[in-house]
Amino acid sequence: MRIVVAGATGAVGRHVVVAGRERGHEVVGMSRSSGQDVIAGTGLREALAGADVVIDVTSVMTTSGKAAVSFFRTATRNLLTAEQQAGVGHHVALSIVGIDGIDAAYYAGKHAQEREVAAGDVPWSLLRAAQFHEFAEQMLRQLSFGPLTLAPKMLMRPVAAREVAAALVEVAEAGPSGRVPDLVGPTEERLVDLVRRLRRADGRRGPTVEMRLPGAYGRGLASGALRGGPDARRGTIDFDGWLRSADHRRR
Ligand SMILES: NC(=O)c1ccc[n+]([C@@H]2O[C@H](COP(=O)([O-])OP(=O)(O)OC[C@H]3O[C@@H](n4cnc5c(N)ncnc54)[C@H](OP(=O)(O)O)[C@@H]3O)[C@@H](O)[C@H]2O)c1
Repeated sequence: MRIVVAGATGAVGRHVVVAGRERGHEVVGMSRSSGQDVIAGTGLREALAGADVVIDVTSVMTTSGKAAVSFFRTATRNLLTAEQQAGVGHHVALSIVGIDGIDAAYYAGKHAQEREVAAGDVPWSLLRAAQFHEFAEQMLRQLSFGPLTLAPKMLMRPVAAREVAAALVEVAEAGPSGRVPDLVGPTEERLVDLVRRLRRADGRRGPTVEMRLPGAYGRGLASGALRGGPDARRGTIDFDGWLRSADHRRR
């Protein structure tokens, strides 16, 4: 199969590229750094020529609901239009476990994306995954102020991006399936503990302070809804295993 990965340089996208090639597929990566922009719509037609499936793992770094909705809606519309023109028969999207009822900030964008995919004319599949182990690194980068790191109060079941990527390739191979079972990690965690363990493993000193974010977004993170339900599939790599793995150490 010829698989196009939109967001191929990201935390999960880089694993999707490797997983797709390991399973014998021809994989084309798209991102702005290789000349394709899902917001401007540039470079998509050329990259999608001859593709069987597109796996969309693009993202935007924002806490603004308006910016998130604008990004995911525009990116999805542009991709679906280009896919239709190129005759691509399957669009695979990645969303987040447990976001029902948290229609705020970044998650408002994910709801908008899910709606666009379901309403579009390209046959689709949608996987919801829990926060990646790499999410703790993303938080550390965004919320460190000198030696101090803030960690939003958040209950979660983090999963390795590597396992999410493998699941996305399986979904691509299976053909359009609509919403597929959620994927979460093997253990229940608090974000503040992950950030502390990450700092310790990296030899970084300084305090990590948990804070409850205000509003619907903060309530959603703290509620435990993001841990997903009992029917979710479970990954096998826990956070400490990931910390010791090459996936963390080479970053
Ligand atoms: N992180 C998590 O814990 C987590 C958990 C569950 C689901 N998800 C979902 O997984 C997806 C990927 O998340 P991630 O954390 O892997 O993202 P990420 O590391 O921030 O990577 C984002 C990717 O999108 C590309 N990109 C951004 N803007 C673009 C544009 N205008 N045109 C083309 N490419 C663009 C980036 O490359 P360039 O900058 O080079 O363009 C990069 O390859 C998102 O949909 C997210 O909601 C994430």
